[in-house]
Amino acid sequence: MPGSGSVSAAIMIIGEGPGFNEDQEGLPFVGRSGKLLDELLAAVPIAREDVFITNVVKCRPPDNRDPLPDEVAACRPYLERQMELLDPRVVVTLGRVSMLRFYPKGKISEDHGKILEWEDRILLPLYHPAAGLRNPAIKQDLQQDVLRLPEAIQASIRLSADSPNAAKTIETQEQENEEQEITRPQDQTPAAEAQLFEPLLKNETTEEKEGDRQLGMF
Ligand code: URA
Repeated sequence: MPGSGSVSAAIMIIGEGPGFNEDQEGLPFVGRSGKLLDELLAAVPIAREDVFITNVVKCRPPDNRDPLPDEVAACRPYLERQMELLDPRVVVTLGRVSMLRFYPKGKISEDHGKILEWEDRILLPLYHPAAGLRNPAIKQDLQQDVLRLPEAIQASIRLSADSPNAAKTIETQEQENEEQEITRPQDQTPAAEAQLFEPLLKNETTEEKEGDRQLGMF
């Protein structure tokens, strides 16, 4: 199940893997978790059609278990190619497995809702909606964290403006961050040194990409 949404979306939302319903329908997040995801996005407000939703693994793990590391590895080239083709500016990971795919030293309980830099994109790790359905406190965190999406988009615009062709060196970024007194999660060296971003800049505009169209399956 490859995913669905707008192929020109600035935001890619990445869950863990298809469940039973997703496997049957060939679409991501069509069950109860999907309903909560829609509600969360509506609060921003963002429509599902305006983002691209996919998963770390493309086939349903048996008995709804977490994907195993070798399954994540086997699906890696597919997700990489999707990111290459769609080139999202903001990647929202849902749950631990998805966050670890990009930020292996991350801890979902500490890093959820943080705006991080990953390679030349912005990473916003969120709890998985299924966890929000089980635990009201996590649902509250999800409701707060998803509201950082506009800020994440602003950060991605600033990132593109700062480094149109080449990624900024980590050293330069560190100096700037020190000047701006940004705190940073500890032990954050892998995944291209994901870095905390400053609160959003004001008076920036987003450019709408042309050629929006909906994509069910590739
Ligand atoms: N959970 C996921 O992680 N992905 C889906 O597509 C559905 C449920």
